[in-house]
Amino acid sequence: MSRRSLAFNFGGFPQDIRIRGPVPPLALILEEFEALSGDRPPTFLLICDEHTLPLARTLSPLGPCCVLASGEANKNWAAVERIIAAAAEAGLGRDSLFIACGGGVVSDLAGFAASVYMRGVRLCNVSTSLLGMVDAALGGKTGFDLLGLKNLAGTFYPARLVYLPVESLRTLPPAEWKSGFAELIKTAVLDGEDFFRLLETIPGGPEALQDPEALEGPEGPALEEAVYRAAAYKGRIVEEDPRETGGRRALLNLGHSFAHALESSAGLGRISHGEAVAWGLARSCELGLALGITGAERAGRITALLKARGYETAAPHPLMGPSFMEALKKDKKNRGGRGVFIVPAAGGAEILREAPAEELLRQIVKVKS
Ligand SMILES: NC(=O)c1ccc[n+]([C@@H]2O[C@H](COP(=O)([O-])OP(=O)(O)OC[C@H]3O[C@@H](n4cnc5c(N)ncnc54)[C@H](O)[C@@H]3O)[C@@H](O)[C@H]2O)c1
Repeated sequence: MSRRSLAFNFGGFPQDIRIRGPVPPLALILEEFEALSGDRPPTFLLICDEHTLPLARTLSPLGPCCVLASGEANKNWAAVERIIAAAAEAGLGRDSLFIACGGGVVSDLAGFAASVYMRGVRLCNVSTSLLGMVDAALGGKTGFDLLGLKNLAGTFYPARLVYLPVESLRTLPPAEWKSGFAELIKTAVLDGEDFFRLLETIPGGPEALQDPEALEGPEGPALEEAVYRAAAYKGRIVEEDPRETGGRRALLNLGHSFAHALESSAGLGRISHGEAVAWGLARSCELGLALGITGAERAGRITALLKARGYETAAPHPLMGPSFMEALKKDKKNRGGRGVFIVPAAGGAEILREAPAEELLRQIVKVKS
């Protein structure tokens, strides 16, 4: 049984989300599809990567399965082609179902393939990474990297049904926990005090699953509750603006301008996205403080939580490259200068209408002109 459910409508595309302990069995997924859409998909294709294959096989020990090479380096057209070829080989038709079982790379690839295979087949995401559960599997953005650019090709194609089986995180490597937990902290900052206080009680790694008794809160195990709150927040924001045309959806980019500049100036792959986001969040606090928008106590608590979970919060970052300021300016230009800088504010965050002066940004990141 799902312990928690959420339902959203992204511009006419409904998405149901189930937060549960274990990976769902195939029979349950098919039953839920039938209940939601009135007919049962006659055939399916499982899509996973080499690390999530054991989880995919608990979902369905038999049946066609496309196993991809793991990691961002393999989020490419060749992987999309492999999924499409596997679907064709298994004889899948337009009424079939793609089931993505893995982290954000698998769900982005499977989602894209589902959106183009025979002009669109049904899609279910079974998310197995923390980043996937709190971000990538939700909403509807799909895509893959092309011509050296991240997510250059993609579609909006929300999975009809999304499972967030928290127990699957037992095998997630510590570095991936760290990557996902930073996004969880970011979402808690946006959502408000209750969510933030909850995160202050949860360890930032697999220990969060070790002792469910001790972590039991009024709503159930604390990690499950945190995943639920993050999914609820993202769903609400995406519902307001499913095709990301601007407005409040930019809030989800809290900390990301600093993070992108750090990632690209360090050299792609030298720092995980989550660690960069955590550092960016600390910079956003300092920016908000300097502008008189973020209160000192709030900034202090956010930075303390980041430090307690093992993130680097000081500037300059040891991996920051000489192109940092250029990259920061480029990020702003790429997004048309709007909604680029977001800072924590009372009970949430605020999108700055105007980019802060370069001199102030230099002070925040401790880079001399
Ligand atoms: N579509 C969106 O809205 C959206 C949002 C955020 C991020 N993303 C994308 O998500 C991707 C990052 O997602 P990610 O961090 O999940 O990366 P990922 O899918 O590469 O997973 C990280 C690693 O953990 C492994 N893994 C996943 N679940 C596991 C488990 N339960 N046990 C053991 N190993 C497991 C994977 O095999 C991989 O090696 C990026 O490509 C990013 O662009 C998409």
